[in-house]
Amino acid sequence: MRIEASERLKKLPPYLFADIENKVAKMRAKGNEIFDLSIGDPDLPTPPEIVKVMQSAMEEPGSHGYSSSKGEQFFRDAVARWYSVRFGVKLDPSREICSLIGSKEGIANIANALVNHGEKILVPDPGYPVYANGSTFLSGAKKTVMPLLEQNAFLPNLNEVDASGAKLMYLNYPNNPTGAVASIDFLKEAVDFARGNGIIICYDNAYSEMSFGEPAHSILEVPGAMDCCVEFNSCSKTFNMTGSRIGFAVGAADAIAALAKLKSQVDSGLPIYAQRAGAFALSQYTGKDPPAAVKKNISIFAQRMKLLSAGLCDIGIACRVSPATFYLWVNVGGSSIAFADKLLDKGIVVTPGIGFGSHGEGFIRFALTKDESAIRRVVEKMKGI
Ligand SMILES: Cc1ncc(COP(=O)(O)O)c(C=O)c1O
Repeated sequence: MRIEASERLKKLPPYLFADIENKVAKMRAKGNEIFDLSIGDPDLPTPPEIVKVMQSAMEEPGSHGYSSSKGEQFFRDAVARWYSVRFGVKLDPSREICSLIGSKEGIANIANALVNHGEKILVPDPGYPVYANGSTFLSGAKKTVMPLLEQNAFLPNLNEVDASGAKLMYLNYPNNPTGAVASIDFLKEAVDFARGNGIIICYDNAYSEMSFGEPAHSILEVPGAMDCCVEFNSCSKTFNMTGSRIGFAVGAADAIAALAKLKSQVDSGLPIYAQRAGAFALSQYTGKDPPAAVKKNISIFAQRMKLLSAGLCDIGIACRVSPATFYLWVNVGGSSIAFADKLLDKGIVVTPGIGFGSHGEGFIRFALTKDESAIRRVVEKMKGI
């Protein structure tokens, strides 16, 4: 019997990194040394105190049973406390918070929870591919692109966005792939735009703790945002816990209820021991300032950012240091795939900008997920390219 994927799935482009992984596997099979700066998976360890909490939670009776899709009360309480100390945002843990199996899961599922077939979703371009594919395409919604251009500091020009028929809008700052940040004034403008046009903002704040300057904002700090915004975050990047899948959605109670209802039919929640570790990790915050382990991370990534951007400048590739995230977004002109392939021939793996949308063409993205000595070797190998 021949098994065929659905027509819908056949039309879905392959996940960006699956393609890159195939190319890298071929290079490795040939015995080449590989410097993989493509995927945003931190190389640094989870802080040991968090690992210990997870270990002992795994030994607690009941910790391997089902949780609920919405998350345990203690976990939602910890998220509420974190929002209060970190952003000054008050949340009701019973109505305004839902646990996620990583923020990616919620970012993808929210469209099916809130958007009807044929309705419009506003998607930043370049952007995290899940907005356009796992969310918009799979839910049967229509995508309208909001270009993020260098001359506009990689913020969408909201005056030029066609809001007619739009139900939902994704925004993501600190931004993947550009490393750009958003001021509170921009977030106010976005909330005004959403309220004026009856659009729900899905604010992806996965890199909120990875800023090298001022701490990033939550969109929920903006007055009126609780009516029209859902924010996504996780422990993945903040605490180097990508594989533990500890995420959460917070914000407008009706949207959270819809997401929790959908999730109750497709998952049975985040493991309880993971929620214990997540609650503990978030409890390390006592204010806006990150705890010591997070500060250490930020300073390591800031150092790598300086090293790579200075190295690229030295060899004639101009770039600006990103103010946040561990991504360096470099304008190389011309075909981003051709440039990335040239680097791959030298064993350097980066992500071609076109993979993040058509407005990413001409750029490549470095993820600073290797140590300084690897970054020095990368720069050395790139000489003369
Ligand atoms: C912009 C952005 N949002 C969300 C995620 C998902 O992270 P997680 O599902 O681990 O929380 C990522 C992961 O790379 C990302 O880059």
